[in-house]
Amino acid sequence: MAKATSHFVCQSCGTSSSKWSGRCDGCGAWNSIVEEAREAPASGAKGQALPRGRSSKLVGLKGESAAPPRITTGMPELDRVAGGGFVPGSAVLIGGDPGIGKSTLLLQALASLARQGQRVVYVSGEEAIAQIRLRAERLGLSDAPVLLAAETNTSDIIATLSDGETPAVVVIDSIQTLWSPVIEAAPGTVSQLKAGSEALVRFAKQKGSCLLLVGHVTKDGQLAGPKVVEHLVDAVLYFEGDRGHQFRILRAVKNRFGATDEIGVFEMSDGGLKEVTNPSRLFMGTSERPAPGTAVFAGVEGTRPLLVEIQALVSPSPLGTPRRTAVGWDSNRLSMILAVLEARAGVSLGQHDVYLNVAGGLKLKEPAADLAVAAAILGSMTDTIIPHGTVVFGEIALSGAIRAVGQAEARLKEAQKLGMNEAVMAGSSEAPRVKDISVRSLETVADLVAWAASRSKGLRRIA
Ligand code: TYD
Ligand code: MG
Repeated sequence: MAKATSHFVCQSCGTSSSKWSGRCDGCGAWNSIVEEAREAPASGAKGQALPRGRSSKLVGLKGESAAPPRITTGMPELDRVAGGGFVPGSAVLIGGDPGIGKSTLLLQALASLARQGQRVVYVSGEEAIAQIRLRAERLGLSDAPVLLAAETNTSDIIATLSDGETPAVVVIDSIQTLWSPVIEAAPGTVSQLKAGSEALVRFAKQKGSCLLLVGHVTKDGQLAGPKVVEHLVDAVLYFEGDRGHQFRILRAVKNRFGATDEIGVFEMSDGGLKEVTNPSRLFMGTSERPAPGTAVFAGVEGTRPLLVEIQALVSPSPLGTPRRTAVGWDSNRLSMILAVLEARAGVSLGQHDVYLNVAGGLKLKEPAADLAVAAAILGSMTDTIIPHGTVVFGEIALSGAIRAVGQAEARLKEAQKLGMNEAVMAGSSEAPRVKDISVRSLETVADLVAWAASRSKGLRRIA
């Protein structure tokens, strides 16, 4: 029987199948499946026994191993997300939408390292040397001794890197441009991207360089996504943000050398990315005069507490099915909170549109934001102003109970640091006390409604 020499691979998630289809079964992406040549089978065809191996010494968990040394870029926001600096011999993937600022961030990081005297190489497959130089000039980095190469052929890149002293840090911008003639697939396909990344990761591990791979994320699956190389690398950082906002968030989603969920906050300006050392000020908005329908949530991202303003707008709906729109928050979770408010506290929103927005373009994932979301919604419904200086946090259960959440002390301390004086949170005997912050504990959503009602003069729209 003739062997199939090609298979069909989804460029978004890497799922392979024997026939083409319009929609990938693995990830649901449309039009992302491309025919690719099968990789040559390793010697030792089917049925043949594997060659005899060498046995290796088995060891215990405890042993001498020093903490890995770190290469710190001198950009504390970046270093923290990396787990305290980059580790030599490790590979890090930096993913994000095109145009979000990945190249800018890495050029700035390399310039900073180069100025410390590290040998650093920036390999670009997307921009010509002249373009990179122009950008460096605009960013005021021209004097930094960063070594540049414009190259896409994986073997040539490795040859270039092997030449002379081993670089401490190498940036490959981007993995989607990596290409090798020995692989029978078009540049930008899963096979090319995987093979190129694998070869570079192997090089980095052997030589002890830290490899930073840039990967574009495209929603339509036109380019193979960085998801297919996530397993190859030691850390995966995603650079997120909203084009409409100047804030950018670097988030660790996998890190073998540090905590995940750690975030770094940057601001895109004409002079490149600037670090935001006190992000709470930024996401709290300028609520000196708070409006109805806003609540300040005391959140925690990774190890870092962060105050974020949550805004809600409730308005009578002209539609049979009212709209529920959430920006920066899961819309299923919003529906759940509305259902709990209705079932457990008699707040009927069936005739109202509900819009929810997290200030600054931040995406919140913590269930601890439930209570702040509910408070903002009630505030908008009843025209109640939550006084300036109040933070809200807690998880809402389907029963309507408000649950205590972790890291309460860190949240309260951040609130205190920013001059807040009251916290609305779950009642718990273990609730920490923080100086200057008075705690209002709530047991259920009905307590929250009663609290909002006590503050609102007219209680205009609560059913
Ligand atoms: P870039 O780093 O090229 O994005 P990526 O590598 O992720 O595709 O960033 C490009 C965007 O950043 C572009 O839209 C312009 C903007 N930008 C600034 O606003 N200020 C700057 O100083 C620079 C260099 C870029
Ligand atoms: Mg780029």
